[in-house]
Amino acid sequence: MGKAKWFFMDNSSEEVPLGQVLVGVVFNLKHAEQSHSSAPDDQAEYDSMDTVLAIERALQRQGCRTVLCEADEDLPEKLRRHRPDFIFNIAEGRGGRAREAQVPALLSLFDIPYTGSDETALCIALDKALTKRLLTTYRIPTPRYRVYEPSGRIPTGGLRFPVIVKPNAEGSSKGIQDVCIAENASELKSLVERNISLYGGSVLAEEYIHGREFTVGLLGNGENVSVFPPMEIVYHDSPISGYNVYNYTVKQQYTKYVSYRCPAELSPELERKIVSISKKVFLALGCRDFARVDFRLDEENRLYFIEINPLPGLAPHYSDYPMLAEFCGMEYDDLVGNVLRAGAARSGVCL
Ligand SMILES: Nc1ncnc2c1ncn2[C@@H]1O[C@H](COP(=O)(O)OP(=O)(O)OP(=O)(O)O)[C@@H](O)[C@H]1O
Ligand SMILES: [Mg+2]
Repeated sequence: MGKAKWFFMDNSSEEVPLGQVLVGVVFNLKHAEQSHSSAPDDQAEYDSMDTVLAIERALQRQGCRTVLCEADEDLPEKLRRHRPDFIFNIAEGRGGRAREAQVPALLSLFDIPYTGSDETALCIALDKALTKRLLTTYRIPTPRYRVYEPSGRIPTGGLRFPVIVKPNAEGSSKGIQDVCIAENASELKSLVERNISLYGGSVLAEEYIHGREFTVGLLGNGENVSVFPPMEIVYHDSPISGYNVYNYTVKQQYTKYVSYRCPAELSPELERKIVSISKKVFLALGCRDFARVDFRLDEENRLYFIEINPLPGLAPHYSDYPMLAEFCGMEYDDLVGNVLRAGAARSGVCL
């Protein structure tokens, strides 16, 4: 694992003394017993206690005092009792299309500043089709798609096969199982119906882009947001014959299926393009502090935006965002510290 020399430069970060601060870490844990779904990956987006403790340790190493608050129905009471000065938010929320906005909205109501994007940016980004529609107005290329609503018809609508079928408002590869590619109208129909029965919401079918895959991390705010060099997901094998999809199976057994290359081998021109589109997407959606953007490059070297994650996973040595930061020489604790400082500086909070 070669490490590139790359460091986050934030001139404002030195001005934020962290010593006296009580930082609340707000999160949703995986709870197998609370699953009411027949979907096998129902809990995939939630965090493990190991991740929460790693973030807490990192914050403590920055000199902060910490309190852990699970984002359940008692969260308002916990906030009232502990009165944190600042929140490190990784909460995915408890269901519905606006779930990632639940905690930010509550924090706004309590007037407690927090890391990461606000409720509006999180809602838009979680809706993949809405994001694609919005980014089209910025001329950002994204694969052609159709959205299917529960109980609606399932026409192919001029889509070119093969297409990938995924829930429109999920993340963490939820619903992108080993059978997720449709090569004709009848496969499309059965995949859309299966998705609707397992996940309930609308379903996105998107033209499948054969070719290389990249993910890009961003850190900071506004025009000065720092963009990590793109990381390539290099496929060696696939559980889906003929297709490379970074799905749950691949992520669970990543050493078997993929390796990661960061910085990706790209022409300077293509690298500049990926970096510039990533920044444009981040700013267009009004993202804050940190995010990760996924891309595919087709066989003619045309670049396609796939999705943006303004609340990227932070599981140490597993999630892509901390992994790409580490490739670039930023250890986990420093990454957490930099996200915290970006949020604090942006909020104008003298912590
Ligand atoms: N249009 C497409 N063409 C080719 N592959 C695609 C396409 N859309 C998605 N994929 C594959 O499926 C993977 C997961 O898709 P996507 O990133 O949209 O889902 P997600 O569950 O939100 O991901 P994450 O785990 O990053 O939150 C991608 O990383 C890519 O490998
Ligand atoms: Mg993705």
